[in-house]
Amino acid sequence: MNMKELQDLDRQHVIYSWKAQGGVKPVIMDHAEGIYQWDVDGKRYIDFAAGLLCINIGHGNKHVLRAMEKQMDKVCYVGPMFGTEPKARLAEMISEVTPGDLDYVFYTNGGAEAVENAIKAARLYTGRNKMYARWRGYHGATAGAITLTGDPRRWSAEPGIPGVVHYFGPYPYRDPFGSQDDPEECGRRTLEVLKTQIMLDGPKTIAAIFMEPIVGTNGIIIPPKNYVRGVKEICEDNGILLVSDEVMAGWGRSGKWFGIEHFDVVPDIITTAKGLTSGYVPLGAMVWNKKLWDHFQDHPFVGGLTYGGHALACAAGIANIEVYKKDKLIENSRILGERFATRLEELKEKHPSVGDVRNKGLWGTIELTSDKKTKAPLAGFADSERNVSVELTRRMAEMGLTLFAKWDFIFMSPPLSITQEQLDESISIIDKALEYTDSLIG
Ligand SMILES: Cc1ncc(COP(=O)(O)O)c(C=O)c1O
Repeated sequence: MNMKELQDLDRQHVIYSWKAQGGVKPVIMDHAEGIYQWDVDGKRYIDFAAGLLCINIGHGNKHVLRAMEKQMDKVCYVGPMFGTEPKARLAEMISEVTPGDLDYVFYTNGGAEAVENAIKAARLYTGRNKMYARWRGYHGATAGAITLTGDPRRWSAEPGIPGVVHYFGPYPYRDPFGSQDDPEECGRRTLEVLKTQIMLDGPKTIAAIFMEPIVGTNGIIIPPKNYVRGVKEICEDNGILLVSDEVMAGWGRSGKWFGIEHFDVVPDIITTAKGLTSGYVPLGAMVWNKKLWDHFQDHPFVGGLTYGGHALACAAGIANIEVYKKDKLIENSRILGERFATRLEELKEKHPSVGDVRNKGLWGTIELTSDKKTKAPLAGFADSERNVSVELTRRMAEMGLTLFAKWDFIFMSPPLSITQEQLDESISIIDKALEYTDSLIG
């Protein structure tokens, strides 16, 4: 079947996420290899979104495919009350790469479920019910995770679960507390606001503070180190658990195994998914430190999922971690991340519609503006009127590159296996597409 026929079939039955169904017309993909994917008409695209920030090792990795085949010949799945070799070995391998004493793994099917279980674990462990989560954070689409989310995706899910309180995190480019472009000062002021909020709210009523170590889908916002360390201190002083949501930041995306490592802070819980299996099969995890592990030796952890610890998914996870290590993908993300930063700065210099560029490793954003001086948005928050991102991504796709863009953000997150030449080629396409956003300024 060709593109048109498949699109017609697709539009008769398939419901797409986050959208009114009327305007949906997906490109139908056929196969993929490395950083490339091909549609059913044979057109090739650079996958500059790594699927949805998950295909970290690249598409079609033979080592992972062989490991999955081997596991399929044995068994794909046993009940979650049983152990399997892949389940035990993957947990050991995760514990070796997570920071500090984060050594104990509860398997889920994806990121949001890892977050749901972290909410549960924090409540059970502390006996408190309040969850703190950042404005401009995203934690998933299930009931608890979407309530923690601090962006418009939460609005239609309100009132959500009880006990969730949002706080401001640092956003140096748009600091609401008046210290624009001075990250440390922004961190200091934002921390003072958080301390005051917690004092008024009752520190002993708070079970956990959730944060993405680097904010993902709200604009790759990199907090200053003093802020993250300050949050950790608040947690330690008040018996609050720190949960680092590494669903997007983990597995080399930011140039380290986990995003929180940039700040020399060890959280109590990590939630993860995506790059754990690079999307070859869905798998997520909640990882505990020793304090939680010890507590739950004689207190039941009241939570479970039919597919938790899925043997095939765990086999894919093991093979993924082997690829990360053998192909030095975390190092590649860090090293190419430096070149990426230079190339992004060039785009900022050149294009009047580029207000800010930010990246850590192979994870970056271009924040669009209609006025570099005032930082006025170009598309605007929620981008409901102008649909700039739709036209921008359409133009890039025409030139053979797919990525994820929304509001005033162009997100860039290629597979970590990308080469310097492929990175440069991708930036050239983005450079060309920015002529469109420049033209909107007039
Ligand atoms: C930081 C973060 N947490 C949680 C999630 C939810 O993960 P999933 O879509 O696998 O449920 C996402 C998804 O993008 C995410 O970026």
